[in-house]
Amino acid sequence: MKGKKWILDSKFEGEPSPRNFKLVEEDIDENLNSGEVLCEAVYLSVDPYMRVFVNDVKDVMKGEQVAIVVQSKHPDFGVGSLVLGNFGWRSLTKVSDISEIRPIPELGELSPSLALGSLGMPGLTAYYGVLDVLKVKVGETFVVTAAAGAVGSFAGQVAKLKGCKVIGFAGSKEKCDLIKEYGFDYAFNYKEVTLQEAMATAAPEGVDCYFDNVGGTFTNDILPFMKTKGRIAVCGSISTYGMDHVQPTGRLPYYTINQKTLTVQAFLVYHYFAKWPAALNEMIPWVKEGKIKYRETIMHGFDKMVDAFIGLFKGTNIGKAVVKC
Ligand SMILES: NC(=O)c1ccc[n+]([C@@H]2O[C@H](COP(=O)([O-])OP(=O)(O)OC[C@H]3O[C@@H](n4cnc5c(N)ncnc54)[C@H](OP(=O)(O)O)[C@@H]3O)[C@@H](O)[C@H]2O)c1
Repeated sequence: MKGKKWILDSKFEGEPSPRNFKLVEEDIDENLNSGEVLCEAVYLSVDPYMRVFVNDVKDVMKGEQVAIVVQSKHPDFGVGSLVLGNFGWRSLTKVSDISEIRPIPELGELSPSLALGSLGMPGLTAYYGVLDVLKVKVGETFVVTAAAGAVGSFAGQVAKLKGCKVIGFAGSKEKCDLIKEYGFDYAFNYKEVTLQEAMATAAPEGVDCYFDNVGGTFTNDILPFMKTKGRIAVCGSISTYGMDHVQPTGRLPYYTINQKTLTVQAFLVYHYFAKWPAALNEMIPWVKEGKIKYRETIMHGFDKMVDAFIGLFKGTNIGKAVVKC
């Protein structure tokens, strides 16, 4: 039996481009031993971290997928079960170690694709960033970047649920309109409005909490607008992922951080892995009851993996980017 996989064909230099990837076939031995299952991809996630976590030529691109069990010799995962697995960009995966797969959380009428987005890793990132890292309080001023994306849109809505004034920065009018519909108090297109203008309008009193998804210049520029004892959650820095591991040559903004006595805390969602089920018990009702809204950008066909991935860096996705096979 033949499966398909996307491998890295040449090292990334700057932003990913189609020439970095190659679609190849692989042989899958369909004779299963006891305890094994064969999974076929249904929805595949594309996420910014894939730009920095894969850089060895010929490696399969990493990533999580929702897959359907198409053959089974395991009592807990019958044919037709939907599972989550970090199988990479693969169309077919034979799983010998069952600890590599997880059942999909109980989503009722919701699409299983949400297990890759709002009700999966990105939503959980937002949840912990807002509630555990920033520990937002009622009445605080909260800023989030990449605000119409998978993490940012969820983070802003959680902060709003907790009583914050929420300000989002995103890269188009369509994205800004969407997050205003989600209940953000202010939405700014950072390509058109300066930070000075935005802050004068939306946060003349300063910012208590900054949920940082983009890093780079924007992060340096927002520091003067933080309140004394403000908090920053360093979630990601997508604006720098094309810079590889070049060390910054400019001065790090420690003076401002020190003078404003800011707390800057980085976090990784996988450090909370054991607590994910408890968080999902709270998040799933938020989504089912419409308290938290979501958007997915779904591309169709395994051959669209590269386009979907590159779209993250061009900002063509709105909400969670997913490929449906
Ligand atoms: N700490 C963790 O455990 C963890 C877990 C998941 C994700 N993350 C991080 O969270 C961030 C958001 O991830 P996501 O999955 O939610 O992606 P996403 O926001 O759904 O998609 C990426 C978005 O980033 C924006 N962007 C791309 N290049 C940019 C640039 N040079 N400057 C400013 N914005 C840029 C684009 O939106 P615009 O059109 O608005 O520019 C794009 O749509 C990433 O930095 C990611 O690495 C961290």
